[in-house]
Parts: sequence; structure tokens; C-alpha cells
Amino acid sequence: MTEEKDYKVRIEAYLPQALEAPGKMPSTLLDAMTYSLMAGGKRVRPVLTLAVADMLESKASSKPEVLDLAAAVEMIHTYSLIHDDLPAMDDDVLRRGKATNHVVYGEAMAILAGDALLTRAFELMGRSYAKDTYPAEQKLRAWAYLSSCAGASGMVGGQVLDIESEDKESLLEEIIELQTLKTARLIQAGIVGVAELLGASEKVLKSLEDFGLYLGQAFQIQDDILDVVAEEAKLGKSTGKDQDHNKGTFVTLLGLQGAGEKLAEVWQKLDLSLKQLREEGLETAFLENYVDLLRQRTY
Ligand code: IPE
Ligand code: IPE
Ligand code: MG
Ligand code: MG
Ligand code: MG
Repeated sequence: MTEEKDYKVRIEAYLPQALEAPGKMPSTLLDAMTYSLMAGGKRVRPVLTLAVADMLESKASSKPEVLDLAAAVEMIHTYSLIHDDLPAMDDDVLRRGKATNHVVYGEAMAILAGDALLTRAFELMGRSYAKDTYPAEQKLRAWAYLSSCAGASGMVGGQVLDIESEDKESLLEEIIELQTLKTARLIQAGIVGVAELLGASEKVLKSLEDFGLYLGQAFQIQDDILDVVAEEAKLGKSTGKDQDHNKGTFVTLLGLQGAGEKLAEVWQKLDLSLKQLREEGLETAFLENYVDLLRQRTY
């Protein structure tokens, strides 16, 4: 099995048990949470979290604290997708190849399933971090970093800018800012969060922050391009939505070719951040291969 598949299999196997909170919960709520969390998805954020952990410390990806952080990031990402698809937001009916959460469970339950996934992520980390291994200061720094990536100056703030971009002329810098917040911050959450947990140096933290930033920006520009060129069946979500909602994206502003050119520039910055990591003595082979896979993605 390739390393990428191995990380993905491990996180898929871990997520259902990570969802089971101690104490009773209404079975409909657990069904709705499980439905979206286990619907598939590329698992990019937790795979990167586990890979960076192993890059920084041999076999760290098997530590419960690291797995909990990876699972927490995927839960927060899944909640962001459930809410992103709601009628009040992007109003989508297809996600991860299945009907969206609110189509199956109703809007109220979809909102609550998202809320519960977000809260469960922090409960999971709290319980895990109350136990052993890493120093308390490192655990709290990881926790605070994840919180800031998810919240008002992270994904939620980016979603606000995304909604405000509808039906107005955006500047390129404004689109970069909204994409950095809504997408790059949650990609950084796992990558930098796990480095905080493992007590990485300031220099390594900075290089990982750059790596997460450029990967996140590239990932969202690709998402904007795929919204226009991809096949719906393969993508597992509806296409043409950004145009329908008059969203500010690289494609709506610059066209497909212009977006492709900007994307190439971001990949170059990403390559430089990988070089920085190598210069700090880290073995980046997995990250390089994984970035190559993502570069070629068609879904
Ligand atoms: C979709 O994220 C939302 C964006 C930030 C572009 P992914 O493309 O990672 O979605 P899944 O997790 O694979 O479904
Ligand atoms: C969503 O961006 C980013 C999130 C924070 C969920 P999009 O709205 O473009 O994501 P998709 O295309 O619906 O997956
Ligand atoms: Mg959206
Ligand atoms: Mg959307
Ligand atoms: Mg999109």
C-alpha cells in the first residue's frame, strides 16, 4: 500500500470511533453526523497532518494525540461543507457523491449536525490532551492554532467574505484574502497544528505555515477551475455553481486561462516552501509526491 493510501485508510478507520462521544446522543444526530463524515472525501487535511507528524518525529502519526488532531480537522472541515451547502449559503444538493445533509435530514438537523461536529472536534482534543505524552504548552498551542484556523479569522471569516463577494466586483487581492481564510487556514490547521503539538522550531513552523498557505491557495484555485471544467459525476458535487451565484473566484475574475496562470505562480511558491523545509533538514519526499498527486487532480 502506498503511504498516502495507508494514511487515508488509517484515518477512515479512526473517524467513526472518534465520533462516538461518551454519554448519550440522539440517534438521528449521530446518523446525520456520520452520514457526511463517512461519505468519502479525499481526506487531504488529515493525510497531511499525519504525514507532517511522521516527517517531524518518527512514527508520530500513530500517537493518539496526533490521530485526534487529524480527526478533529476532518470533522471541522466536514461541518464547514454541511453548512456551505445549506440553502442560505451555496444551496447545493450534491456532496461527496451523495445528497447533501440538509436534503436527507432537513435544514435544522443539518445545522445541528454541523454544530455537533465542530464541538466534538474540540471535545476530542480536550479529552486526548488531558492525558499523556506531549508538554501541556505544546498541546495548548496546537489547540489555539486549530481554533483560530476554524473561526472568525479563519474558515468562518472566509465564508463571510465569500458571501459578500456575490454580486460585486472583487479585486484580485480580495479574492486571495477570502480564499486564504476559507480554505488555506483549515489546511494549515493540521499541518502547523501538529507541528505545534510536536514542539517544532519557529523556523520549521514558519516554513510549514508557508507550505499550508500556498497549498491551500492552489487547492482553492483548482476548485474554482474544476467548478467549470470537471465532470459532475467524478467531482461528486454540482458544477457551474460559482457562475450561478456570481461568486468572486479566480475564474470569474480572470477567466480559465488567467486562473491557470495564477495557479502556476502559486505552485512555484509552494515548491520554494518545500525547498525551505529540505534546507531545514527535513525529509519531504512524501509531501512532494502528495503535492504532485494534488496538482493532477480532476476531482
Ligand atoms: C472542498 O474541499 C471545499 C474546499 C475547500 C475547496 P475538498 O475538495 O477537500 O472536499 P472533500 O473533503 O474531498 O469532499
Ligand atoms: C468552500 O468553498 C470552502 C469551505 C469553507 C467549505 P466552495 O463553496 O467553493 O466549496 P465547494 O465547491 O462547495 O466544495
Ligand atoms: Mg461556498
Ligand atoms: Mg460551496
Ligand atoms: Mg467550489
